[in-house]
Parts: sequence; C-alpha cells; structure tokens
Amino acid sequence: MSTVFITGTSKGLGKGFATYFLQEGNQVLGFSRTEDTELTAHPNFKQNNIDLEDFDAIEQVVEKALEGITELDLVILNAGVLGEIKSMVDADISNMKNVMDVNLWSNKVVLDTLFKKGIKVKQVVGISSGASINGNKGWSGYSISKAAFNMMIKLYAAEHQETHFTALAPGLIDTGMQDYLCEKVNHEEFPSMQRLQDARGTQAMPNGKEAGKMIAKLIPSLLNTPNGSYQDVRKL
Ligand SMILES: NC(=O)c1ccc[n+]([C@@H]2O[C@H](COP(=O)([O-])OP(=O)(O)OC[C@H]3O[C@@H](n4cnc5c(N)ncnc54)[C@H](OP(=O)(O)O)[C@@H]3O)[C@@H](O)[C@H]2O)c1
Repeated sequence: MSTVFITGTSKGLGKGFATYFLQEGNQVLGFSRTEDTELTAHPNFKQNNIDLEDFDAIEQVVEKALEGITELDLVILNAGVLGEIKSMVDADISNMKNVMDVNLWSNKVVLDTLFKKGIKVKQVVGISSGASINGNKGWSGYSISKAAFNMMIKLYAAEHQETHFTALAPGLIDTGMQDYLCEKVNHEEFPSMQRLQDARGTQAMPNGKEAGKMIAKLIPSLLNTPNGSYQDVRKL
C-alpha cells in the first residue's frame, strides 16, 4: 500500500485525487480546514485539520500526520485560493499577500517539514495553473502566486535530486473556484472569463472527481519529464 499526501482534500480537485487514490488501494493523508464525510468514512483516509495560513501550526500538524512514516510515494500540493479578480491597479496588496501565503509560502513550510524530518519523498506534484504563464487581465495575485510557485518547485528540484518535482497546470475543473469566476466576475471587464463560461458544462471542464481521476492517472508519466519543470495536463 502506498502513502499519498494531499493538501486541500475537503472538496474540488483535491477530493477527486483522494477518492481516486483510495479506490486504488492507497493510504491517503489529507489536509484541509474542513472535513469531507465521504473521505473521513474511509478506513484508509486520515484527515488532518490544518490552516495553511497559519505557518506556525503547519509544521506541528504535518509532523504529527507523519508519525511512523519514513517514506511517501507522492505528495500533491493542491490546496489553493483564487483571491480577487481585479486589475493590478485595483488589486489590494493584503488580499494578494493572503493568496501568496496559501498558494506559495505554505507549500514551502510543508516541503521543509518533510525534508527536515528526513522523509524519503519519491514524487512531488505542485498544482499550478495556466494562469501562472498567461498573464491575462484580472488574474493579479493568483497569477503571481502560481508563477512564483512554478519557480519554487524548480528550486526545490535543484536541491533535492532524489525527489521528482513537477508544477502541473490541471486544466479547467468545475469547482467552487469556477462558481466565482463564471458567476461573479464581470466578463466585459475581464474577457478571459468568457472562455471559462463557454467550457462550463462541457468535457473541457470536468468536475473534481473526473479531473482527479484523469490527472492522477497521468502522474506516473510526469517522472519522464525534466525534474522541476512546469507541465500542463492539456499538453501531456
Ligand atoms: N478549478 C480550476 O479550474 C483550477 C484551474 C487551475 C488550477 N487550479 C488549482 O487547483 C487546485 C485546487 O483547486 P479547486 O478548484 O479544487 O479549489 P476548491 O474547490 O476551492 O478547493 C480548494 C481546497 O484548498 C483548501 N484550502 C484553501 N485554503 C486553505 C487553507 N487556508 N488551509 C487549508 N486548506 C485550504 C480547501 O480546503 P478548506 O476550505 O476545507 O480548508 C479545499 O480543499 C488549486 O491549487 C487551484 O489553484 C484549479
């Protein structure tokens, strides 16, 4: 039985990943602020309550979750927040800092805790976004956080060659993030939202469970890509 470490398992893509890996007979360590009862009912799922904005608590929660564990086959750094869609001139720095804390710095604390504890990690997949390279109007703090995350993954790969790292854009997934993007953002002011609305309800935007399964099946093939590289599931 393999052990898979996944952040952001309470809903969306992270729940999809957890569901797939449990179905495949693995043990899943899940991390989020809220719990999903479908997952917590599974004997091989271990829920770890964590607030990724609270850096001081992360180390303690991760260390406790790893008691008795020396190896992890896969770490998926999936938890993320969107923040506000706003032009750069209107974007509030405190909101952008919060997005950076969750999407970037919390992942540093998680990785440092694993490596300092001497856990042997075979593969790390950091869930990035096409927004990390697109630079479309309005994506402000989210794009900046994911671009920095791509580089952080590359830097860790340079320092931990025994572990394979990828920053992976997962494509469009119909989750809570899309509720905000498709329903609450002004599409005239931010034209890139139209592509999302057009994709919603079609195969171009699977739900969390469908996407989790499809992407999880691609994860072994990432081992054949350059360590630390940015990849997009739509191009694999
Ligand atoms: N949906 C898309 O189309 C899309 C596209 C490109 C990239 N992505 C990326 O895919 C990943 C998953 O996104 P999603 O669409 O599945 O989002 P989602 O449905 O909003 O789920 C986000 C997950 O992150 C967790 N999370 C957020 N803030 C947290 C915090 N402070 N502490 C602990 N956990 C926290 C949430 O758990 P709690 O709220 O329970 O804490 C939840 O489990 C993200 O990195 C996102 O940037 C998504």
